[in-house]
Amino acid sequence: MTYEDDGKLGSLESAGDNGGDEEGAAPDPERRRFLIVGITAIGCGIATAIGVPAAIYVTGSARATGAEQAWIRLGSATSVEPGAPPTLMKATVSRRSGYRVEEQEVSVFVTTGNGTDFLVLSNICTHLGCRVRWVEDQDGFFCPCHNAVFGPEGDVRQGPPPRPLDRYESMVEDGQLYFKEG
Ligand code: FES
Repeated sequence: MTYEDDGKLGSLESAGDNGGDEEGAAPDPERRRFLIVGITAIGCGIATAIGVPAAIYVTGSARATGAEQAWIRLGSATSVEPGAPPTLMKATVSRRSGYRVEEQEVSVFVTTGNGTDFLVLSNICTHLGCRVRWVEDQDGFFCPCHNAVFGPEGDVRQGPPPRPLDRYESMVEDGQLYFKEG
């Protein structure tokens, strides 16, 4: 025996069509409005929960880029001796990453010939980002990752780096040496 045969299917479908109301009764307009308002409110909540953090993240990244343009103080300009090998100097900078602001240490090599004009070089290899170090007897910066050598002004002398070490703008104010990234 099938459902069609005994008429049970027909009665189940009728109950589903009107949400279980009595057969032939019109859907309750109040309930329908309540459902529409509820679903809309939930949708707005989800959009806000996703959209607001996304907007903060995007604008936060933009602000972080701006922060990287600021002058970063390295310390006394007299700590770099004229004509001496590159001096490794460190500074702490605040960087925004999405919501978070992180303190990061940056290191640069500084040289000067006259105590007035300074050359500030990144200590990050332009190949794959390893840290370079000054090697006196090679008169250059050595990258241990793939045996690259950069000259005292950051030029590539040997190895795979595609470009010289990054150079940064610098200035001296009130005896303090500053540089600017980017
Ligand atoms: S990372 Fe410096 S040579 Fe490869």
